[in-house]
Amino acid sequence: MKEHAIAVIPGDGIGREVIPEGVRVLEAAGAKRGMRFKWQEFPWSCDWYKAHGRMCPEDAPEILRKFDAVYFGAVGNPAIVPDHISAWGLLINFRRWFDLYVNLRPVRLFEGLPCPLAGRKPGDIDYVVIRENTEGEYGNVGGRIFEGTEHEAAMQQAIFTRKGTDRIMKYAFELARTRKKHLTSCTKSNGITITMPYWDERFAEMQKKYPDIKADQYHVDGLTIQMVLNPDRFDVIVASNLFGDILSDLGPATAGTIGIAASGNINPERSAPSIFEPVHGSAPDIAGRRIANPIATIWSGALMLEHLGHPEAAADIVRAIEGVIVEGPHTPDMKGKARTAEVGAAVAEAIRNQSRESRFCRPSLPASSSASSSPRSTGTRSATSASARTFLRAASTS
Ligand code: NAI
Ligand code: MG
Repeated sequence: MKEHAIAVIPGDGIGREVIPEGVRVLEAAGAKRGMRFKWQEFPWSCDWYKAHGRMCPEDAPEILRKFDAVYFGAVGNPAIVPDHISAWGLLINFRRWFDLYVNLRPVRLFEGLPCPLAGRKPGDIDYVVIRENTEGEYGNVGGRIFEGTEHEAAMQQAIFTRKGTDRIMKYAFELARTRKKHLTSCTKSNGITITMPYWDERFAEMQKKYPDIKADQYHVDGLTIQMVLNPDRFDVIVASNLFGDILSDLGPATAGTIGIAASGNINPERSAPSIFEPVHGSAPDIAGRRIANPIATIWSGALMLEHLGHPEAAADIVRAIEGVIVEGPHTPDMKGKARTAEVGAAVAEAIRNQSRESRFCRPSLPASSSASSSPRSTGTRSATSASARTFLRAASTS
């Protein structure tokens, strides 16, 4: 039986409410597919900061390196710790230390979820944002001068290295190859006249190696317009750290709720553990009420399984999520009345029911043959699972 050691960092706010549901679902998926998890929880958070003066111990990187992956809730409690300190201290630093240069954020309109964009149906919104996760605008290089005077100034450098730019573009081209063979680059070279033309140049250079991929580019402002008006134009979008951050919040919002948006901070070379977490934050406005949607965290768990080499188990989870989104129960962000734990329990139960179905109805339910058929046919539930599996697989292999 395959066993995985997973570090669990629930963090702050609703992170602590959604992570147990993710663990519950992963346990169900593991039981079905014959794998075990050795969970170890770490209480690093803003509360931990209050007691220790930092977000995590100094040797946290060494501690976490021993695990196969990290399952992360959310960080942030601005009432105790300023956001820039908490986010860097527990999450953004790890993206650097572990060279998690890919932030993979799927955006998908599920069947059964009302779409805020009029007239859109499942299949119209089905793309992946690949955000560069280690450099760019989040360079953390800069400073202040003439502090406390009228002359005071602050500046921060954006940093685009050839290595950093090329490797994220290569990853995105490879991913596009497993999907609809279409890659969009998010730029802003009309306004940001040094780093963004460089980004464009590197994109054009990489494109030469992928003649089979349809490549185009939009300025980030125009891209947001198209994400709202014509989301069906997109398949894979590659973006810098800041632009990718913004687009990957807008995308899930157009697909119904941030409460379902999943992400992986991935080190494709596997020289350190990757970190899987919901896109959303700690949601102080609803924390403690136990009504947070756990689906983003559960879906992130599926991305983790895919990365760990279990695409069938990941597909089981995605299929169970699809069922619960159609049939309920739903948390209030999805216009329901259910609590976090009810949704988690329903997804876990759906996975157990799959075992029963497959025992009685069919021999097994691995990634079905539809997984290799055209991912364009995303109108039906089974086909959408196939496309989900397609990007999941790319995430773990390229
Ligand atoms: P947020 O994502 O926490 O919340 C934005 C809005 O979405 C809120 O109205 C919230 O109630 C709602 N929401 C978020 N997740 C939800 C879920 N699972 N179910 C239902 N509704 C949900 O972003 P916000 O308010 O900007 O930040 C709050 C804190 O989280 C801050 O301290 C921020 O720094 C931190 N944060 C942390 C992130 C991380 O850990 N990766 C990402 C984004 C923010
Ligand atoms: Mg964000």
